[in-house]
Amino acid sequence: MDRYVITGKQRLQGTVKTSGSKNASLPLMAATILAEGKTVLTGVPNITDILNMIEVLRNLGCKVKFENNEMTIDTSTLAKDTVDEELMRKMRASNLILGPMVAKNGRVKISRPGGCAIGTRPMDQHIKGLKLLGATIKEKHGYLEAAADKLRGAEIYFDVPSVGATENIMMAAVLAEGTTIIHNAAKEPEIVDLQNLLNKMGAKVRGAGTHVIYIEGVKSLHSTEHTVIPDRIEAGTHMIAAVMTEGDVVVENVVPEHVSPLIAKLRQGGADVRIDGDSVRVKHQGRFKSMDIKTLAYPGFPTDLQPQFLALLTIADGTSIVSETIFENRFQHVAELVRMGARITVEGRTAIIYGVPNLEGTFVEATDLRAGAALFLAALAAEEGTVLERVDHIDRGYENLEEKYRTLGAKLQRVVKRC
Ligand code: EPZ
Repeated sequence: MDRYVITGKQRLQGTVKTSGSKNASLPLMAATILAEGKTVLTGVPNITDILNMIEVLRNLGCKVKFENNEMTIDTSTLAKDTVDEELMRKMRASNLILGPMVAKNGRVKISRPGGCAIGTRPMDQHIKGLKLLGATIKEKHGYLEAAADKLRGAEIYFDVPSVGATENIMMAAVLAEGTTIIHNAAKEPEIVDLQNLLNKMGAKVRGAGTHVIYIEGVKSLHSTEHTVIPDRIEAGTHMIAAVMTEGDVVVENVVPEHVSPLIAKLRQGGADVRIDGDSVRVKHQGRFKSMDIKTLAYPGFPTDLQPQFLALLTIADGTSIVSETIFENRFQHVAELVRMGARITVEGRTAIIYGVPNLEGTFVEATDLRAGAALFLAALAAEEGTVLERVDHIDRGYENLEEKYRTLGAKLQRVVKRC
């Protein structure tokens, strides 16, 4: 597993362009299973989660080409309905093939993606929705099998606004007989991007981005072309990095509305944030002020920016409280930040952060994708140097991170560890 050796106290300055969204690309890739022929997705980030999803689609028999962020997926050779266990366990989001495979192929068998560092990641809402659409679900020996001769439209109420369950049920319902209504749907921008792709394929979906989504089933879907929305979490990570390193950074390829909760919090803390079309300029101006944040489903403060923002609060002026309401175990970055001199106590899903003047470089280890991103930012801001282990976690969700940060003035080396 590779490591980063990062020089501290780097004021980031310059311009960085955000890549396409990981969390939009993954359901869009799964949705291509629904269409006849070759679908082209452009602006797809070249990161390991995407490469894993390509392997899942190839494992099912699809032909996938991926070059220069452009992906062509030919599903005409789809031949299998079971994905190898090892592949499934590599990435939880591979469960997004459930809905499209049941709808298109009538059957699918996946090994239940395990939990991960941040939580147990249940699938009860996915299963509830598929059953209401008429699928039979068998679960044993860690496998989940879903089958249906024909799915029928249903009215579904989600107990929690699950992003993945909303996406799976949207993709299952587009070829069902009749109309499906999803209540308490997730409202994330990635859901809207999925609706846009499905409708380009000939589906009849409306309401994405609100808490009620209506889907009128159609007979078949055709291939199309689609450009993925920008990655709002990557953009937010860069914006936080600018403030943490007392820098001045223009982040390009951003949909400002998608990062509005973060913009509000950065301004509340005293940063100068200026929006100019699809760019956002973030300038540090004076020590960041402490504050409280609570993660919520969109359009609340995103859980995927909680670790990075918590890292910023470790050097803010005063005491802050961070409440993580989405995942039960998303404070694994705290212990590593404490090793860097941060003063934090965690009580269940709440972290109390007492701001310190600066962090100290040391040896730290990434435990998951966004915890890794938080430690990366902390290392750039810390006194002296930091060695960050397990950057494979970061590679899952950030494209060309080293190049992007070198252009902003960071001094870092990737040390490839021969295993
Ligand atoms: C998506 O995961 C994202 N991943 C996550 O991003 C993100 O943190 C999460 O949504 C929340 O915004 C992708 O889009 C690939 P959920 P997902 O189902 O769909 C509970 C990252 O860092 N729940 O919305 O798995 C669950 O326990 C990743 O890029 C159920 O109770 O998240 C959690 O508390 C991490 N039953 C909450 O809902 C279910 O059936 C949100 O989970 C499903 C979920």
